[in-house]
Amino acid sequence: MPKWLNDAVFYEIYPQSFYDSNGDGIGDINGIIQKLDYVKGLGCNAIWLNPVYDSPFMDAGYDVRDYYKVAPRYGTNEDLVRLFEAAHRKGMKILLDLVPGHTSDTHPWFQIAKRARETDLSNRYIFTKSVWDAPPEYRLMCGICERNGNYLVNYFSSQPALNYGFYEITHPEWQLPPDHPDCLRTAEAIRAVMRFWLDKGADGFRVDMADSLVKNDDEKIATARIWRSVREMLDRDYPDAVMISEWSNPQRSIVNAGFHADFYLDHQGNGYNSLFRKKIGDDNQSFFADSSHGDIEEFLADYFLGYNCSKDKGYICFITNNHDMPRATFYMTDWMIKLTHAFMMTMPGVPFIYYGDEIGMRYRTDLISKEGGFSRTGSRTPMQWSYEKNAGFSDCDEDMLYLPIDKSEGAPNVESQQNDPGSIYANLKALLALRKANPSLRNDSDLEVVYAKSHGFPFVYRRGEFTVFVNPSDNDEQVDYDMNGAEVVYVLGGYENHGSSVRICSRSFLLIKQ
Ligand code: GLC
Ligand code: CA
Repeated sequence: MPKWLNDAVFYEIYPQSFYDSNGDGIGDINGIIQKLDYVKGLGCNAIWLNPVYDSPFMDAGYDVRDYYKVAPRYGTNEDLVRLFEAAHRKGMKILLDLVPGHTSDTHPWFQIAKRARETDLSNRYIFTKSVWDAPPEYRLMCGICERNGNYLVNYFSSQPALNYGFYEITHPEWQLPPDHPDCLRTAEAIRAVMRFWLDKGADGFRVDMADSLVKNDDEKIATARIWRSVREMLDRDYPDAVMISEWSNPQRSIVNAGFHADFYLDHQGNGYNSLFRKKIGDDNQSFFADSSHGDIEEFLADYFLGYNCSKDKGYICFITNNHDMPRATFYMTDWMIKLTHAFMMTMPGVPFIYYGDEIGMRYRTDLISKEGGFSRTGSRTPMQWSYEKNAGFSDCDEDMLYLPIDKSEGAPNVESQQNDPGSIYANLKALLALRKANPSLRNDSDLEVVYAKSHGFPFVYRRGEFTVFVNPSDNDEQVDYDMNGAEVVYVLGGYENHGSSVRICSRSFLLIKQ
């Protein structure tokens, strides 16, 4: 386990929307280099970069055309290497996004595989035996190639699935086993991509749809086997490199597949959802809701299932949001967002902050889909840096912007937030400084629940010498707890010390050291 991950705090950068250094309206790698000090100043020491590879951008770069080349709109391979070097000089790490499950249908492998003539790439993707062979349980694209067969897609129609084989073979005419030499070669091709960028200085990968490799693999047994072999390669040849999965199942991803860390994603019915995004119609039933009537037990039951089995082997990553979900501002007030940040930054695991969340950027519902974003487009708008032209994101004419700038009344920017001691930014920065200064608040330190009651408040937990109280509800809530001799380290809202009990005011957070 690379040591640096234990105090890593990540900042996710959606490159096209972060900072445009050359006035073409699209963010770029040079722009990221120029803003490294900003990211570091917030308290992050690592960056996850969404895909920067050459792509036709039918899914914002998750449709890779060339794994070995930076998309010209972001710069060159040399620029990316300069980013690695500049980050390393500042003590920061850079994770690239690895998209192993599918490519763009414009990828040269696919261009060859879809032809009638058989080649050594004919099994790189998954084709049925003829165009008349189209079992409805598979997402197939039918009748559009020269080759007599239909092909499987993972996500959008432009993203044909790479062939890692089938764990359970239901159609032996066209399904290969995972240990077929052609399937092993697919995995080898992806390992080669990883080695290429690790050799250039990347610190590892966030892995897109990590569970998607082998098909008909419900328990993900054969998929885990592939990742284990990747982990062995890292342990042997790149012991400081990490792989973090988009999976949201610590048992499978960390324990079985060997990932160093796994994202806690917003999935219907899981703990993340019940904490932050459980909206039933207009009724927000999340634990962190503006008039909370949520249930902390829903979170705990789910979280501890994953935490207990994986905590000695890897990290669960709390995310403020990502490029696939509405921003938190869609669900909560700025104040409640501050409480969620206080909670996340005092929990174990590797935290991830999505660009713009530190200033409370808004989720836009009024935008036309861009590059396959659809409902996600509203979370992908240009970073708002200042009151200057295009919010300081770019010098370009307004109509050239990748996506429009949020011009709504009171839209936040870095400048306004940095100058306001009560801002979301100031709160997050203070919390990250606390986390950094105190080993008990770091990523692998123990978590112990002190008080949690179904539909009750506050929620109280301990991290080493620290105790955290959080009460997002409308009411002040009392809990038996002797605060004698405690040092109050961080407060949002208020509390009263009643000797043998503590009263945590409505919508408040308290961190004490004792
Ligand atoms: C992941 C990415 C998402 C992308 C999809 C297909 O979920 O986060 O943005 O569209 O995979 O690659
Ligand atoms: Ca640019």
